[in-house]
Amino acid sequence: MRSVSFLLLLSIISSVISWSPTGSLAPGIVSCPNKTLIRAANGISEEEKTWLEGRDRVTNANLIKFLESKLENFDASNFVENASRPIRLAIGVSGGGWRAALVSAGQLAAFDDRTRGDSGLAGILQSATYLSGLSGGNWLTGTLAMNNFTSIQQILDEGEIWNLESSALNPQWDLNYTAEYYKTIRQDLDDKKKAGFPVTTSDTWGRVTSYTAFAKMKDHGVSMCFSDLQNFDVFKNHEMPMPFSLIINREPNSFIVGKNATVLEVNPFEFGSWDPSLRQFTPIKYLGTELDDGVDNGTCVAGFDNAGYLMGTSSSLYNLYHDFLDNLNLTAIPESVRETAKSLFKYAYDKETQYAFLEPNPFYNSHLGYAEDIVKNETLFMADGGEDGESIPFHPLIQPSRGVDVVFGLDNGQDRPEGWPNGTTLINTFERQFSKQGTGKFPYVPDQQTLLNLNMTAKPAFFGCDAKNLTSISEKGHDVPLVIYLANRPFSFWSNTTVMKLNFQEWEKRGMIQNGYETATRLNGTLDSDWPTCVACAIIRREQERQGIEQSDQCKECFEEYCWNGEINHNSIAGVNFTDIGLTSGPNDSGNRKVIEPSNQIY
Ligand SMILES: *[C@@H]1O[C@H](CO)[C@@H](O)[C@H](O)[C@H]1NC(C)=O
Ligand SMILES: *[C@@H]1O[C@H](CO)[C@@H](O)[C@H](O)[C@H]1NC(C)=O
Ligand SMILES: *[C@@H]1O[C@H](CO)[C@@H](O)[C@H](O)[C@H]1NC(C)=O
Ligand SMILES: *[C@@H]1O[C@H](CO)[C@@H](O)[C@H](O)[C@H]1NC(C)=O
Ligand SMILES: *[C@@H]1O[C@H](CO)[C@@H](O)[C@H](O)[C@H]1NC(C)=O
Ligand SMILES: *[C@@H]1O[C@H](CO)[C@@H](O)[C@H](O)[C@H]1NC(C)=O
Ligand SMILES: *[C@@H]1O[C@H](CO)[C@@H](O)[C@H](O)[C@H]1NC(C)=O
Ligand SMILES: *[C@@H]1O[C@H](CO)[C@@H](O)[C@H](O)[C@H]1NC(C)=O
Ligand SMILES: *[C@@H]1O[C@H](CO)[C@@H](O)[C@H](O)[C@H]1NC(C)=O
Ligand SMILES: *[C@@H]1O[C@H](CO)[C@@H](O)[C@H](O)[C@H]1NC(C)=O
Ligand SMILES: *[C@@H]1O[C@H](CO)[C@@H](O)[C@H](O)[C@H]1NC(C)=O
Ligand SMILES: *[C@@H]1O[C@H](CO)[C@@H](O)[C@H](O)[C@H]1NC(C)=O
Repeated sequence: MRSVSFLLLLSIISSVISWSPTGSLAPGIVSCPNKTLIRAANGISEEEKTWLEGRDRVTNANLIKFLESKLENFDASNFVENASRPIRLAIGVSGGGWRAALVSAGQLAAFDDRTRGDSGLAGILQSATYLSGLSGGNWLTGTLAMNNFTSIQQILDEGEIWNLESSALNPQWDLNYTAEYYKTIRQDLDDKKKAGFPVTTSDTWGRVTSYTAFAKMKDHGVSMCFSDLQNFDVFKNHEMPMPFSLIINREPNSFIVGKNATVLEVNPFEFGSWDPSLRQFTPIKYLGTELDDGVDNGTCVAGFDNAGYLMGTSSSLYNLYHDFLDNLNLTAIPESVRETAKSLFKYAYDKETQYAFLEPNPFYNSHLGYAEDIVKNETLFMADGGEDGESIPFHPLIQPSRGVDVVFGLDNGQDRPEGWPNGTTLINTFERQFSKQGTGKFPYVPDQQTLLNLNMTAKPAFFGCDAKNLTSISEKGHDVPLVIYLANRPFSFWSNTTVMKLNFQEWEKRGMIQNGYETATRLNGTLDSDWPTCVACAIIRREQERQGIEQSDQCKECFEEYCWNGEINHNSIAGVNFTDIGLTSGPNDSGNRKVIEPSNQIY
């Protein structure tokens, strides 16, 4: 299949360069780790267990600081340090193109103690153990993770990362630059192909993504791997949450999107799936190695887990559209380079698919799950992480072995024609747990109509507030995480841009981020000054339940305000009510949009 001699040649180059052994997009040979390269998904990896010990210490300290400032008559250190198990927070960032990435960026900025001006929620990000993203959301989580856990504040202040003024498909109005850009990407893809690995549209997309997300890095991260995080100081020292990206397995030409699709998890240590269909993980560093039931042939490969490639694959929504290429609007691209651009997206059409290929398939011939079609194939086919209808990547965060108490679900997806969410992703995650593919634990949620009618997309909502009501999901109800749901809605900006919008002017970008910040903070505390306290109440809830501690009156009031109490409401006309802040219509192009001038930066 591949030429061994070429790989050997590459391995000589590899000795001088870090990151990918070849220093390019091409994977190369490394020595094999002398162990089986698959394991059954019976729990988290040993590496993750070890990492968690360190991260728990850091998040405990940050959490104590956060809780102390929010709760009255509460001994935060005693509570956190003597908890029956570590209190773990997780954040899931939905897909939805740049809309999702930018609005979620505003929400994360509100959670981040490095953002100027106190949102009331600063420190949540520093207290979080896990941070997952898929599709557009994974551009955000991947950008933060791979840039030494930079902050949104820093991204906006420096202005290098996420230059969205020129689109990925038209990097600059400078013809020479554009031509050079496509030539370089073409060269990167050729490197990978020459090393014997299939190249697909996702490789192009991955490079395009990297130009935006890894703008500050040498060669735009062409040889940077997801597994390289293991060696990043900021990760090793437990100063950042563990990032996940989600991808789904999908057979080419099966245009049916199934809730039972196999979800693939990318984490700094491993790649694989919890789902009964596959139920195994492999060390992510050795992706690209030929394995037979987890056993290598003595020659191992590294460098396949290119960070941009995995981020691009997680956001490869275009494989839903047969005619993606025909619909690409390339008119902005100068004619002389248009064909090169087109050829990049057509690259490796030899198998006539727009799927990302993981070839060789690391799970080849390993029968730990039930889906024989996956493990009998030499190729694992991958597609956009949101294509199973779960656009918030809750999946890795609700696995019982991760012991998460509270999950923030940031929903910046599109369910309604106008581009706003209606909670469908919550329902799909809830239902999946009862299917053949079910593994996680998720609390009860209402139907979309009720969600809309009870204003749960217009203001934050808590689900699973009472563990006693969850015993039909898990014997001990307090194993099921409490979910804090934050949905996109307009405050100062029409943040319902379409998923295909790839260009944002600077003021539009800042408008999206600002609006996200406002959705997370209840308009920066102006709608409810107790909101940060209520978040603190939600964070401590499960541990209180485990210990049988009664909620304070302060927290009871919060739960009254934000918890779904089981009510079903189909009475009124569907629609998010945006009138609660006196905006009958939000800002718009022609007039009342609050434009954030660079001279008046909020971040
Ligand atoms: C591989 O590991 C086994 C035991 O785990 C050990 O006996 C053997 O010496 C190792 N081989 C090499 C080449 O390290
Ligand atoms: C939020 O409000 C605080 C003051 O309460 C202010 O310092 C900060 O700049 C505001 N942030 C944003 C993003 O509006
Ligand atoms: C991340 O930090 C390391 C030092 O710990 C530095 O060498 C590297 O250049 C940084 N990467 C980025 C993208 O800033
Ligand atoms: C673009 O390249 C051409 C030929 O290489 C050169 O003559 C021209 O000056 C370049 N234009 C710019 C704006 O750099
Ligand atoms: C998903 O469901 C479809 C139809 O019920 C079935 O054909 C397919 O094998 C299932 N896939 C998995 C991975 O369970
Ligand atoms: C052994 O595996 C490597 C990749 O891990 C592959 O390049 C090579 O072709 C394989 N050799 C044989 C003889 O199958
Ligand atoms: C394609 O892009 C050009 C330039 O960006 C724009 O003027 C035109 O309206 C677009 N066409 C479509 C069909 O969107
Ligand atoms: C692998 O999957 C592809 C695409 O579905 C299919 O054409 C091929 O026959 C499969 N190979 C095997 C060995 O099943
Ligand atoms: C919610 O969104 C889904 C698509 O995600 C749509 O099918 C459904 O009709 C919507 N329901 C309501 C009440 O908006
Ligand atoms: C954004 O939302 C508003 C209100 O729902 C709607 O009028 C507008 O058409 C939406 N914009 C887009 C691009 O869908
Ligand atoms: C949980 O149970 C209590 C009674 O124990 C009930 O009042 C409440 O409505 C229930 N909440 C949900 C979400 O079912
Ligand atoms: C939803 O919000 C509107 C005003 O924004 C309010 O009139 C209505 O009572 C709210 N509905 C519920 C169930 O709280």
